[in-house]
Amino acid sequence: MYKSVLMADPSHFDVEYVINPHMAGKVGQVDRALAVRQWEQLRDAYQALGLPVHVLPASPGLPDLVFVANPSLAALRDGRPLVVLSSMAAPQRRPETEVSAAFYRSLGVPTTTVAAAPVEGCGDLLWRGSRLFAGHGPRTALAAGQEVAELLGCSLVALRLVDPDWYHLDTCLMPVSDEAAFYVPSAFDAPGRAALSSAFRELVPVSQAEARAFACNGCCPDGETLLLPTGCPETARHARQLGLDVVVLDTSEFLKSGGSIFCMTQLLPFAGVSAR
Ligand code: ARG
Repeated sequence: MYKSVLMADPSHFDVEYVINPHMAGKVGQVDRALAVRQWEQLRDAYQALGLPVHVLPASPGLPDLVFVANPSLAALRDGRPLVVLSSMAAPQRRPETEVSAAFYRSLGVPTTTVAAAPVEGCGDLLWRGSRLFAGHGPRTALAAGQEVAELLGCSLVALRLVDPDWYHLDTCLMPVSDEAAFYVPSAFDAPGRAALSSAFRELVPVSQAEARAFACNGCCPDGETLLLPTGCPETARHARQLGLDVVVLDTSEFLKSGGSIFCMTQLLPFAGVSAR
């Protein structure tokens, strides 16, 4: 379903403020040169899977721009590209939405917004064609998920996020197909866990240790290969049992900001040209 990938140039990536628990004590601790190498390895991994990578230019003063999953959600409505632009919870990140919007305009892809706020794109809204998994609480309002599901014409699985460590849905839920997903059980309340068990035939719990290594922030863009952060051997083993190829990538510098592979990725269900 995905035709290309959007990433953002990491030249200005840093931890300059604290807006999630993972960033505490990490201000000024990023090894920028290492971060750039890790980012390049992720970009190369997508290209090796045959996915062209669009790159947003870096913006000084926007250290979190590299987490390009958050300012938008790229989807299809009735088979046509449609992007829902975010309204970010933290004021420091609000200008990022316009940077993404300019990129979509350059492709000729229509964008829209929802009335409810805040909403943080693919951080909380995992769109899988007929279903939208919508995390709500820390970063995205429940009403925003409801609006987006209606807009895209898909059914909504609303999931309340109850632990500040798992502040985005993409830190605690990783669908790898329509039938299988990995999740961090303690991130959800009882109704959320029940909704997930009825949504997936295989629902694999991730240990706290692997959750902290961001096991649920991997990315499976083609249903065949799972790009997974280092330090998640059990998740990797289980993914292989599910028939996936696993490619392990080190994202140590981005973990200091509370993000990893999936957050650095906006999967686009359109390529540049065909979107026009
Ligand atoms: N420092 C960023 C923030 O707190 C990290 C975002 C990571 N993105 C994600 N989808 N989990 O907003």
